[in-house]
Amino acid sequence: MADKLIIFDTTLRDGEQSPGASMTRDEKLRIARQLERLRVDVIEAGFAASSNGDFEAVQAIANAIKDSTVCSLSRANDRDISRAAEALKGANSGRIHTFIATSPLHMEKKLRMTPEQVLEQAKQSVRFARNLVADVEFSPEDGYRSDMDFLCQVLEAVIAEGATTINVPDTVGYAVPELYGQFIKTLRERIPNSDKAIWSVHCHNDLGMAVANSLAGVKLGGARQVECTINGLGERAGNCSLEEIVMAVKTRKDYFGLEMNIDPVHIVAASRMVSQTTGFVVQPNKAVVGANAFAHASGIHQDGVLKARDTYEIMRAEDVGWSNNKIVLGKLSGRNAFKQRLQELGVMLESESELNAAFTRFKELADRKSEIFDEDILALVSEESVTQDKEQYAFVSLTQHSETGERPQASIVFTVSGKEVHGKSDGNGPVDASLKAIESIVDSGAEMVLYSVNAISGSTESQGEVTVRLQNSGRVVNGVGADPDIIVASAKAYLSALNKLQSKADRVAAQG
Ligand code: KIV
Ligand code: ZN
Repeated sequence: MADKLIIFDTTLRDGEQSPGASMTRDEKLRIARQLERLRVDVIEAGFAASSNGDFEAVQAIANAIKDSTVCSLSRANDRDISRAAEALKGANSGRIHTFIATSPLHMEKKLRMTPEQVLEQAKQSVRFARNLVADVEFSPEDGYRSDMDFLCQVLEAVIAEGATTINVPDTVGYAVPELYGQFIKTLRERIPNSDKAIWSVHCHNDLGMAVANSLAGVKLGGARQVECTINGLGERAGNCSLEEIVMAVKTRKDYFGLEMNIDPVHIVAASRMVSQTTGFVVQPNKAVVGANAFAHASGIHQDGVLKARDTYEIMRAEDVGWSNNKIVLGKLSGRNAFKQRLQELGVMLESESELNAAFTRFKELADRKSEIFDEDILALVSEESVTQDKEQYAFVSLTQHSETGERPQASIVFTVSGKEVHGKSDGNGPVDASLKAIESIVDSGAEMVLYSVNAISGSTESQGEVTVRLQNSGRVVNGVGADPDIIVASAKAYLSALNKLQSKADRVAAQG
């Protein structure tokens, strides 16, 4: 049997821990479906015991996903593990991932536990989890900074209790490739029952080496599972990026010699979906999924690629889902052409009514913009899905006036729980005036910590995509809005961020 690398995606759990990246249950479900299309082996859907919202998201994903294993994180205690098992009940294939810190620093300062207590709790938790599900992963948090002898003792004990996967996190992104690879190798060599579990790597990107460290864990250490996120989303500098791992292992099969289940043609759509849902823009020079990843600007390169593509290209853009045919639709395109293009982009709308609503918006956009690019369609669909989530605030219309030497004025109409309201304000610029017009009604008390504009398809004809990050009472959220008019896009992004703040506040209130 071919040697296989398991791809474990944690966008919906570790990725979501990134400030502002929190997602609603329906957003997570959409991303989970895209991950299933991408054929990831394991989807870590959330941390069921952390909130009612997370529990519901894990449960919904467990019920909907058929082809990937669905996993919930849980701390190493009976309550968390029981909640995870409960949320995973409907899964075709469910996994409990339990963890406890093992580094001297974490045990002493964070857990205030002795190594003996940590060892006991790790064993007890894996035993408890194995009575509920057959597939149990154990992670020693801050594993890479743990004492080797102690780590060997803990990992040998949890394998004896039935852990089926052992994941070794570099929680703070401190590792370097050779040492991390050697670390995994030493663990596997020293632990007598190491062959009873699959070994997994989980690297953070604080020093920009998460992908390199993970690959070293695979090549030198013999790990056969990589934990990663779409676009490398994650706390601080992020996690190991799925698209980079997958394409490295695939492109350099000569070196790694490993098979994967992944169907890379869905990578770009997954990247877009995660970026548009979370408001974390992908840098243009990001490997595989950045706008420039396959663009050749220099004359020498262009000439070479035209003569023989592999002079300067090691992967084919189409293989990861970049379409050759960029201009796809226009105002004369029909519903079937629209539906087919959505399918080609890997977007499945859940119902006919969602498709109809998206098509209506496509026609509205096509009236204002002659060429509709794939990027426009993806933005439109992700906005459509957000609108379907019955949000508290929804954009209706905006007028604004700005003139050199005059203070800009804006009037906005939007709905609050379905009822139309009108706001007016002036401001430093038209965007400022429009957002203040919203605040003249909402008075949210939120502080704006980030505002960014991106041209979706790279020309002045394109839609502007705006991300707004708001902070209130310790909660941080991102809102995203797209429109050919960037002032309207800004208002939509602001309302979307207010909706997220509201839904977070509701979730906190529901937990008591
Ligand atoms: O980085 C980390 O240590 C984690 C564990 C919970 C697996 O995310
Ligand atoms: Zn992590």
